[in-house]
Amino acid sequence: MHTRTFGLVAAGVSVLAATLALSAPEKDPLKPRVPAAQLDEAKKLGTPLFKDAKSAPAKMVEEGKALYEGKGTCFNCHGKSGKGDGMAGAMLDPGPRDFTNCAFQKARTDGELFWTVKHGIQGTGMVSLSPAVVSEEEAWKIIAYVRSFCK
Ligand code: HEC
Repeated sequence: MHTRTFGLVAAGVSVLAATLALSAPEKDPLKPRVPAAQLDEAKKLGTPLFKDAKSAPAKMVEEGKALYEGKGTCFNCHGKSGKGDGMAGAMLDPGPRDFTNCAFQKARTDGELFWTVKHGIQGTGMVSLSPAVVSEEEAWKIIAYVRSFCK
């Protein structure tokens, strides 16, 4: 290969790498993502597993972590850190939610988070993951773990 051609190819590859590494920002995390028509109902969704996810038993939070980092696939986009910095998330626009943002956590009920995992968020990389990937019970355990990202 000519040196010049090689230079151009190398430049192209580095531009591509830079584009992939540049993650798009998340949408306003304080604005509800559940469509208005379903919001009231979504807010009230609950589980017999616990009264509120923030005070779920430690064992359940542990199970939720294993699912988040395993078959639930959440970590791919939201990152093991919960900051929305997962490898696959870097290619998405809007970017995945940053779960360490306590203002976001306060703005949502457990039911809204569950609704998101069940139905996905239309037009984004957040697709419906329950019951296809995790059962509803598993989804609730994952939400208990998601709540623990706000320290
Ligand atoms: C393929 C990438 C991807 C995967 C995998 C993924 N998410 Fe998401 N998630 C997103 C994106 C992108 C958004 C932001 C969508 C938006 O802002 O409208 C999001 C948003 C969310 C939100 C915020 C909803 C809100 O009300 O703002 C929650 C909660 C969530 N995801 C939970 C999960 C859980 C739990 C899992 C694993 C079971 C998961 N996600 C897996 C991409 C992903």
